[in-house]
Amino acid sequence: MSIDLLVIGLGYVGLPLAREASLAGLAVVGFDLSENVVTSLSSGRSHVDTVSDADVAEMVAAGFRATNLETETGQPETIVICVPTPLSPDGLPDLAAVRGAAEMAGRILSPGILVVLESTSYPGTTDEVVRPLLEKVSGLNAGMDFCLAFSPERIDPGNSTYGLSNTPKVVGGYTATCTDSATQFYGKLCKEVVQAKSTREAEMAKLLENTYRHINIALVNEMAVFCHELGVDLWDAIRCAATKPFGFQAFYPGPGVGGHCIPIDPNYLSYKVRELGYPFRFAELAQEINQRMPTYVADRAAEMLNRQAKPLKDASVLLLGVTYKKDIADVRESPVPEVARRLLIRGALVAYHDPYVPEWSIDDTQLQCVSDLTAEIKAADLVILLQDHAVYDLDLIARESHLVLDTRGRLMGSRVSTL
Ligand SMILES: NC(=O)c1ccc[n+]([C@@H]2O[C@H](COP(=O)([O-])OP(=O)(O)OC[C@H]3O[C@@H](n4cnc5c(N)ncnc54)[C@H](O)[C@@H]3O)[C@@H](O)[C@H]2O)c1
Repeated sequence: MSIDLLVIGLGYVGLPLAREASLAGLAVVGFDLSENVVTSLSSGRSHVDTVSDADVAEMVAAGFRATNLETETGQPETIVICVPTPLSPDGLPDLAAVRGAAEMAGRILSPGILVVLESTSYPGTTDEVVRPLLEKVSGLNAGMDFCLAFSPERIDPGNSTYGLSNTPKVVGGYTATCTDSATQFYGKLCKEVVQAKSTREAEMAKLLENTYRHINIALVNEMAVFCHELGVDLWDAIRCAATKPFGFQAFYPGPGVGGHCIPIDPNYLSYKVRELGYPFRFAELAQEINQRMPTYVADRAAEMLNRQAKPLKDASVLLLGVTYKKDIADVRESPVPEVARRLLIRGALVAYHDPYVPEWSIDDTQLQCVSDLTAEIKAADLVILLQDHAVYDLDLIARESHLVLDTRGRLMGSRVSTL
């Protein structure tokens, strides 16, 4: 059976792409190795919080189906690879899923089709890792028999203004014809398609965006630490600086960085630069500074309690918001477990609340989300606001807590100390 699009990997990137394509009228099949993902989608449930169950129902009504059987993918005109690109335990790029997906695409390939890699990786991945596998397995040649391109996903989970269709889509092909083919495909889903010179520039554009954020967040995180000692309110300084209508973009301190794009992706670029024999110093420094933030938050918690003549040991500490980003349920790479670990090591009695995370574990310690939020806020020796989810009543937190450490610059009052 011939279909318009096969999406390989139905996670935070692949599923929204499958949704946009289905709703744009394309015949879409989604392939995922995970049986759970396929079972849940097939029964109308979404496992990704940016795609609702109603979206899945609409997709299915439009003809979408999910499978974990390669024999059931059909004959696609376009294949888009959206599989994970994590780090190995020793901190190096782990391209096993990309390799697996490229081999699978190679088995499905037929002349004339377009293959796109969307997974974030170092420059050269599409040409040096994906292309040889596609060519070896299929016996066809990229640029001649089939088209190959890289297109970075720029999804911003929880952003209600910008989604796939109204965020310009960068595409870079193996050849100019490949770029045109990818432009034509994404033109069906996105208002604007931006052509890169080649796959490498498109890969680098994504890493430049992520590294830029990583470095600027590290800059304000480092400033937050010394501003506290200097008695300067950095949040107010940022507010003032942000009134400049040109040449400045505001970034804010926080308890550390989370998700995939910021803590993981710049490592892919550092790895590639290290192959040249020298380090990517900015990215590595940003990593070091941002990774120190959870410990700094725990130190500030201890300092606040100390001023009240209370040791951190046996103090009750309530953590508010454990996801890596506001108003989403994603806890991947969240810095909050490290904050909790640092507090637990020093003997604190840690509880948490997050409207999106009913159960949470720190290593072997299983925690249940507290049920009576107001009572727990009143009872805790210290409340730490780690994620300012929109549902939180910020005035209540500032008013009812004994002491609050605000890592998001949102609270005011005599009991509040801001990061
Ligand atoms: N999440 C984001 O906000 C975001 C934004 C931009 C780019 N990215 C990049 O997109 C890529 C995918 O990220 P994600 O967040 O969607 O990951 P994810 O973990 O949410 O989803 C990946 C899916 O791929 C499946 N999978 C793994 N190996 C597979 C294989 N060989 N064949 C088929 N399916 C396979 C997994 O079961 C999973 O369901 C990564 O490279 C990531 O860096 C993510």
